[in-house]
Amino acid sequence: MNALQEKYAKEIEAILAKYPAEHKRSAVMPLLYIAQRAGGYVTKQDMSEIAEILEITPTEVASIVGFYTLYHDKPEGKIRIQVCNDLPCALRGADKFLEQLCENVGIQVGETTEDGLVSIEAVMCLAGCDKAPMFQVQDENGISYHENQTVESAVELIESYRKQEKES
Ligand code: FES
Repeated sequence: MNALQEKYAKEIEAILAKYPAEHKRSAVMPLLYIAQRAGGYVTKQDMSEIAEILEITPTEVASIVGFYTLYHDKPEGKIRIQVCNDLPCALRGADKFLEQLCENVGIQVGETTEDGLVSIEAVMCLAGCDKAPMFQVQDENGISYHENQTVESAVELIESYRKQEKES
């Protein structure tokens, strides 16, 4: 038995029970959710354990982690800002927005601020194409969407997270 199965045996069993044995690979999303909830991100070890449980390859699991913006394969900031710079958003200035926002907080795209609070990354379409520049924020409260942004409004939002963090 592997670490995830040991720790979350009941939860995993309940998830697997929802799928017919021949479709148990469909449980990959909820299992990734458990792994990420446990460690803040999905490790290589988690991916191979999930692959073993679902009888698929670790590469298949890794490709799902890579595809969905919800999952992370490395430690991230507590607040993850995911800016869409897919083509329709790029045409509305998303690339420049992303670059200037990162410059403002002193990081490169894909990096985390020194205090570990904020990560900023580029992602594919978030279904808010006509409201770019836009991004989603993932934090401990879930996901929130921020549309028609300016660098100033985004920096203001980051400052409000910093303030909350200091007060907590
Ligand atoms: S292309 Fe950016 S939200 Fe659709």
